[in-house]
Parts: sequence; structure tokens; C-alpha cells
Amino acid sequence: MDCFERAFGKFIRKKTRSLQFPKSFRFPRILSRRLSVCCGAPSHKKYDRIIGQEIDQVNEVKGAEAERRFVNGEDVLPHCDLTVWLRDCKEDITVPIDGDSMGSIPHWLQGNLLRNGPGVSSIGQDQFNHLFDSSAVIHRFSIRKGKVTYQCKFLRSETYRKNVEAQRIVVDEFGTKATPDPCKTIFQRFSAIFSDEMTDNCMISLYPFKDQIFAMGETPVMYRIDPSNIDTIGRVNMQEYVNIVHNSSHPHVEEDGTVYVLGLSVDVTGPKYSIVRFPNTRQGTVEHDVLSDAQIVARVRTRWPFHPGYMHSFGLTPNYYVIIEQPLSVSVPAKLASKLNNEPMSSMLKWYPDQPTIIYVVSRRNDKVVLKYEAEPFFYLHVINQYEEEGHVVIDVCAYKDPKMIHCMLIESLKIHRSAQHNTH
Ligand SMILES: [Fe+2]
Repeated sequence: MDCFERAFGKFIRKKTRSLQFPKSFRFPRILSRRLSVCCGAPSHKKYDRIIGQEIDQVNEVKGAEAERRFVNGEDVLPHCDLTVWLRDCKEDITVPIDGDSMGSIPHWLQGNLLRNGPGVSSIGQDQFNHLFDSSAVIHRFSIRKGKVTYQCKFLRSETYRKNVEAQRIVVDEFGTKATPDPCKTIFQRFSAIFSDEMTDNCMISLYPFKDQIFAMGETPVMYRIDPSNIDTIGRVNMQEYVNIVHNSSHPHVEEDGTVYVLGLSVDVTGPKYSIVRFPNTRQGTVEHDVLSDAQIVARVRTRWPFHPGYMHSFGLTPNYYVIIEQPLSVSVPAKLASKLNNEPMSSMLKWYPDQPTIIYVVSRRNDKVVLKYEAEPFFYLHVINQYEEEGHVVIDVCAYKDPKMIHCMLIESLKIHRSAQHNTH
């Protein structure tokens, strides 16, 4: 959970209802009864008590007060130092540097902490508009014998290479439209609508697939990172193995190393949310293709064929996949329009405030939807936790009343609120 989610605006800790599953049932008839019986189960309250207190402590500004402050340009993020997001990384730190120690680090603690995130807000004269667009930088904190060293390197993606080479932004990002190529005719621009050049600036996460580490975004391309020196050492595209056009950037990794990713697949019958399984086989043998055994193990049809829900994470418990379809859609018509109108990708996200958020619970045993639950509309990025307890599945979602929080990560918005913080403190 990031500081935005802890502190910004309409943060609501979703009152997750616990969903109880009968051993067998007819889905449409029993749904409402089961849900009414199960709301407010003891397990949920227990979890609220433990985590809720912690969140209350850091979430001093919320709801109407946060909105008022936001409108007035006042500080809405008292616990988030926005300087962090507005710094630019000018160049790689290839030789690890020592950090300043605060307190003491136990000598038994050893290892490397790798992180991924936005690194630079401009290329040449071009500025990125949104934090999601910044070129990815990989960070490495190496902990040895009570000391920590740090190094960082830009992810050498195709997008990064093209941008640096051209010294301008040449690939569309979430909130930034690439500078139009002056050499392209109007007919070439029209044909580009169908070529689907997607960014491969994988700046969201890092996950292990078998014995390899990959940087991920929300397109099926991933970059392999060498954990010993954070060099970019390979590029893979999940589309070569499974039929997906988009994926969540937060997989689940099970204890045995099996990885599950939520993707969106499209076939002749329409788009479907698809759970992709990467079994952990052949680990530690020879260099191998970690994606070769990937397969789609469960599918759920999207409620609207041309408006699939935006996906960033999903839930996984020992027996169920939990797919949360929010009424924030990636609109296919809007995507086509955005290409024609030269608008950034963010313009294809459409919010339907009157439509419910649908939670699908899918059995891992037979890949069938065992429960479809309609909740009030909410926007979310992260499933915080999910587990089974006493015959219930409990999901804990960091939810918002609407998707406005995406706007607070616009670079301009961050600058405004950073100056508000300066004025306040
Ligand atoms: Fe995330």
C-alpha cells in the first residue's frame, strides 16, 4: 500500500464482506441469502481491529476534509514526502555507494532489496504528465554486515532506448501523448491506430518467476533483471505463450514458486479475465525459458464486451481466485478515439458511477465461478489481503469512492501539493 492510498482523499477501508460458500448450490437462487447471512463475520471484525487501528493512525486527512484541502491547494498528504516523487534520476549509479546509517542493522541481516519505480519526468524538452509515465529505474539496496549500499539503473526498455535516442517522448504513455512524428502523413497516423504500439516501460513492480527476476508493467512485456548488478538482461513477451493483451502488474507467488497473473484475453467469443499460471518446474537446472509452461487456468467473461474493467491486482486464496471487476473500464471505442484525437491512454478509462463493482469468486479446483457478488461501485488498485477462515473468504481491498486519486499523481498536481506542503511546514 503506498502513501497515496494511506493518506489521499476518499480513502475508504472497504467494509469487505465475508463470503461463505456452501458445499454445492445453484448459483442464482442462493446468492442473496448466503450473502445476507454472512455479512460481518467474526473473522472480518478481528482483522479490522488489528489493521484498522494502524491505518487510522496514519490516515489523518480523509474524506470531505481531504477533498476540501485538495480544492484549496492545501496539504492533503501530511505523511507523504512528495519530494520523493518529483526527484529526477539523472544517471545510473553503477558502483554501489554507502548510505548514512540511522540506528543499527543487525549483522545477521543480509540480502538485496530490489525496487522499481518512476525515475525521470522529462526527456529532452518533453515532460511526462503523469507519475505512471516516468522512465523506470531499478534500485538495489544491498545489506551486508551491518551496512547498506545503494545503486540504481534505468531499465533498458525499448521505450527508454527510443526516447533517449530521439531526445523526446516517442512512445505513448498512460498520461502522456508522444510527440507526433513530423514526418508521418495523416494516413500513416491513421494506420498507427491499428498497429498498437504499446509502451514497455515496465516501471510498476518486480516479481520472481521461478529463479529469475522480472520488471513488470501492465502490458505483457516483461524485462529480466540481474539481481547482482540490476542490469537489464532480457525481454520477454507473455503474448508469445498465452493469449492475453493486458495484465495486472501484481501477480501472486505461491510458496512453491508458482506464479499467477491476471490477464485479459480476447477470442471470438469476446474478452475474458484470465488467470495465467506459471508453474515452478525445472528450477535450478539449466538456463531456460521461464514462461514456456504458462497456461490459462480460469476465465471469466467481462460484463461489457467493449469495456473490460481496469485491472491492477487480484486475489488468491488456497481454493479460490478473486477477480474484482470495477466499473472503471478500458473502453475500446475510447481507445480508438484517443488515437484519432491524439489523446493519451488515460482518456480510454471510463468510469461508470452507477454500475456495481462485481466480485467473482472462482474455484481453483474446477475453474468455475462459484459466487458473483455485486458491491457498491468503488475504484481500487490493490487487494491488500485475502484469506480463508472458518468457511469464509475474506478480501481486504484498498478502495475509493471513485477513481479521482489517479489525477493526484499528475506531475502538475504533485508539484502543486508539494508547494502546499512547503507552505504548511
Ligand atoms: Fe500497484
